[in-house]
Amino acid sequence: MRTLIKNIKELVQVETGQQKSRAMGKEMAQVETVENAYLLVEDGTIKAFGPMDEWEGTADREVDATGRMVFPTFCDSHTHIVYANSREHEFVDKIRGLSYEEIAKRGGGILNSAKATAAASEQELYDMALQRLEGVMRLGTGAIEIKSGYGLTTDSELKLLRVIRRLKETSPMTIKANFLGAHGIPMEYRGHQEDYVDLVINEMLPRVADEGLADFIDVFCDQGFFTVEDTARILEAGIRHGLRPKIHANEMAVSGGVQVGVKYGAISVDHLEQMGDAEIECLKGSDTMPTILPGCAFFLNLPLSPARKMVDAGLPVAMASDYNPGTSPSGNMQLVLSMACIRYRLTPEEALNATTLNTAYAMDASREVGTIAVGKKANFFLSKPIPGLEYMPYAYGENKVERVFLNGEEV
Ligand code: NIG
Ligand code: FE
Repeated sequence: MRTLIKNIKELVQVETGQQKSRAMGKEMAQVETVENAYLLVEDGTIKAFGPMDEWEGTADREVDATGRMVFPTFCDSHTHIVYANSREHEFVDKIRGLSYEEIAKRGGGILNSAKATAAASEQELYDMALQRLEGVMRLGTGAIEIKSGYGLTTDSELKLLRVIRRLKETSPMTIKANFLGAHGIPMEYRGHQEDYVDLVINEMLPRVADEGLADFIDVFCDQGFFTVEDTARILEAGIRHGLRPKIHANEMAVSGGVQVGVKYGAISVDHLEQMGDAEIECLKGSDTMPTILPGCAFFLNLPLSPARKMVDAGLPVAMASDYNPGTSPSGNMQLVLSMACIRYRLTPEEALNATTLNTAYAMDASREVGTIAVGKKANFFLSKPIPGLEYMPYAYGENKVERVFLNGEEV
């Protein structure tokens, strides 16, 4: 099956030369485009593209994109979309002055979600997550990483990971699973959390690995949650079971999370609201993608991660949604793109690289998605009629996505 997308006003984020796995420093400002373009899809992958007047051949199906721009779909490399309940009461508590850490200490936060999630069936959780997945797909997301972490018991964590496996099997999205057993410390382990770490390592992890349920292993390494030592133990065990680390770090404090992530070859360290110069230095020359979660900082009123400083220091930066009920109840990557520019002072081109190619890298998918390149999955969207690339982050809060194609099929 050959599908031709014709008369594209501008085809954005194409790769004509050597395909890049990520964009770093000054490269982040580069976005290659083709004006008045065509895009040819064959059997779900990108077969060719170029200026419209160079198109020759036949196709089984044609889509006229007159007036529309075409972008690769967003990659959202950090989400927690398998959960049972929303947490708007805590949202109000926060407005009244409680901090995220205070809510967590008294058993709210992640433990609140874990309680509701334990009571829900696998089918219920699947239905809810699928709905969220479809919602973000309509907003232009084509690849997504999903974490467990609202289980916190062996059975419940396995239940969440099986839901993610089922989503992988049924959804047209590119999905990666991340085992986040070390997300919160259950009440009964308070004061001796090393015993919970033992449970994660000795009981959960072998089951997760045996069933092949995860691509990555995560830890919430931060003040009030898991220590650097806990994290090191869990990551070492995860690596032994073939899982690459991809962790939460430096949300609450300069906690050593970045350093422990880099030490264990994490594919990404995520959050990074609390960054010193040592953290930036440590990321230089590493294969670890610094990933910022603008929705979380917005929702919790946290300090902003120094994205501009990191890019100016030559680092790559990725930006993901962190879609979850506690710190970012939105998976809208168009909004992340806007926040990247407005709050973090990235240019529209840098913001686009941060939400497509670099997030693809952060979920180990940049060979398949993240740009418009021959051989990659035909995952792209047609914009509504818009004046240009800059309009995408500029018109925040407005849905600029008109039609979404995944694996060459309209969804
Ligand atoms: O990425 N920071 C840790 N985990 C999630 C929040 C989880 C929750 O509050 O439910 C995050 O922000
Ligand atoms: Fe998170």
